[in-house]
Amino acid sequence: MLPAALELVDSELYGSIARLGLDVEYVRARGNTMWARCADGTVRSVLDLVGGYGSLILGHNHPELVAGAKRLLDNGVPVHAQLSRRPEAAELAERLNRVIGREFGTDERYHAVLANSGAEAIEAAVKHAEFDRVARVDELTTRLRENADAARAAVADGRVRVPDSVLAALGLPVPAADPAAALDAVLAELGARNAARLAAPPCVVALVGGFHGKLVATTQLTHNVKFRTPFAALGLPARFAPVNDPAALRQVFEDERSTVLDVALVGGELALVERDFPGCCALVVEAVQGEGGIVALTAEFAKEAQAVCAEFGCPLIVDEIQSGVGRTGAFFASSHLGLQADYFTLAKSLGGGLAKISVLLVRASRYRPRFELLHSSTFAKDPFATSIALRVLDLLEADDGAAYAAAAGRGTRLAEALSSVRTDFPDVVRDVRGSGLFLGFEFQDLSGAGSKTVAQVQPAGLFGYFVSGFLLHEHDIRVLPTGSAPNTLRIQPSIDITDEEIGRVAAALRHLCSVLRDGDDAALTAFLGNRRF
Ligand SMILES: Cc1ncc(COP(=O)(O)O)c(C=O)c1O
Repeated sequence: MLPAALELVDSELYGSIARLGLDVEYVRARGNTMWARCADGTVRSVLDLVGGYGSLILGHNHPELVAGAKRLLDNGVPVHAQLSRRPEAAELAERLNRVIGREFGTDERYHAVLANSGAEAIEAAVKHAEFDRVARVDELTTRLRENADAARAAVADGRVRVPDSVLAALGLPVPAADPAAALDAVLAELGARNAARLAAPPCVVALVGGFHGKLVATTQLTHNVKFRTPFAALGLPARFAPVNDPAALRQVFEDERSTVLDVALVGGELALVERDFPGCCALVVEAVQGEGGIVALTAEFAKEAQAVCAEFGCPLIVDEIQSGVGRTGAFFASSHLGLQADYFTLAKSLGGGLAKISVLLVRASRYRPRFELLHSSTFAKDPFATSIALRVLDLLEADDGAAYAAAAGRGTRLAEALSSVRTDFPDVVRDVRGSGLFLGFEFQDLSGAGSKTVAQVQPAGLFGYFVSGFLLHEHDIRVLPTGSAPNTLRIQPSIDITDEEIGRVAAALRHLCSVLRDGDDAALTAFLGNRRF
């Protein structure tokens, strides 16, 4: 029986996590530590490696951010001042532009569209990209109309006739004498052929394993079928290209290539001309896939993504919602790859773990200012969240980017510790990968390895959650698997993780791996009957 209120919030989910020992109540948090309520009413500290799904590069309740938030509230910050000057939002945009300039070596400016959550920033990106695509389609149709008018004028004053080859190419009969009627027939045929193309829904290209949120549009860009297919009829059509396969990515774009037919005066003759049609609204990628199992893009793939986008005139959205804001040792993980986006999205750690804030950054050459009249949100640009984000930037950028160096250095140390566990347990641990403090610890498929428990939980996609329960109750360590790759544990603490804590993590994982290797069901499930929390 659930407490009544929980039944109203999370009845199904709560039941599932309860069976895995994850139904713990946390009462306080600071840095990489959370305090959980124990069955006897006391509290006990837990080392948190989940970090708010990547929202806590500066840790829980960073003292300076908390003090800043208190000051804002004490001073009566005007959280709601919609349709007025918003200097904090402007300052945030300016500061983010400075970071882009430094990390990508560019002086091109990016416009900021502020929002509240990660998925919302991606929805704004797709919406802006479609707004831009529709404007480009309008420019194309205007051009087609102008060319048709020019052809009509040239035929009317006898400068040109419709060549028989044009009529034949369209399968039209050759009229005996009337050039204007021939052109009308050609234009009617082109109109009919182009109509379907012009009305076709756009395609968004995303990557296998990608995760971009769970709202109506973003869920269709999230590869995991469990999240996506129940809502397929609601959302935009996406095509998925395999990650880190440049040739396959190009092939998806080639498959989606489409043209419209135009009639133009070429060298004094009327000719049929195929014009590229912008059928792809955007390519959306994560620099490092988070929920897909911590999979970094390769430099080769990143280069091809940029090349195909340039070639097909398709905007590139780089989703840095989880990988960005310092986690990989730079503000933008994509900067390691030189992958400069047309659109960047940021969220999670941008709010310092306290504020709900996200931002879409749009390259000036792509930005359509009229979008501002069509897209808004009550809380977007609010000075409480934007001021906290500014303070996050202060902390990250201080001392010549010492925080970025810490993310890289601590990440290397942590990765070494995790890799040493893998070296000792190659039959249990499949891979350790990632960048900075964005690491994945992937287990082998152990469903046939002897443990009855593992044989049950692994095929059900619950293995990562089960071992998370083990680590929580046996070792006071909080981990969770990545959302779409449940055999991979996400390890994403703050920059303040200590050597002692890293040692604790490695020791706990060694214990888990030895129990898994031995298929020791009694040791593996003891925590369920002997819960600490
Ligand atoms: C890469 C990426 N994009 C988008 C999102 C969605 O963000 P939110 O949960 O804030 O809507 C997430 C969340 O995990 C994410 O990791």
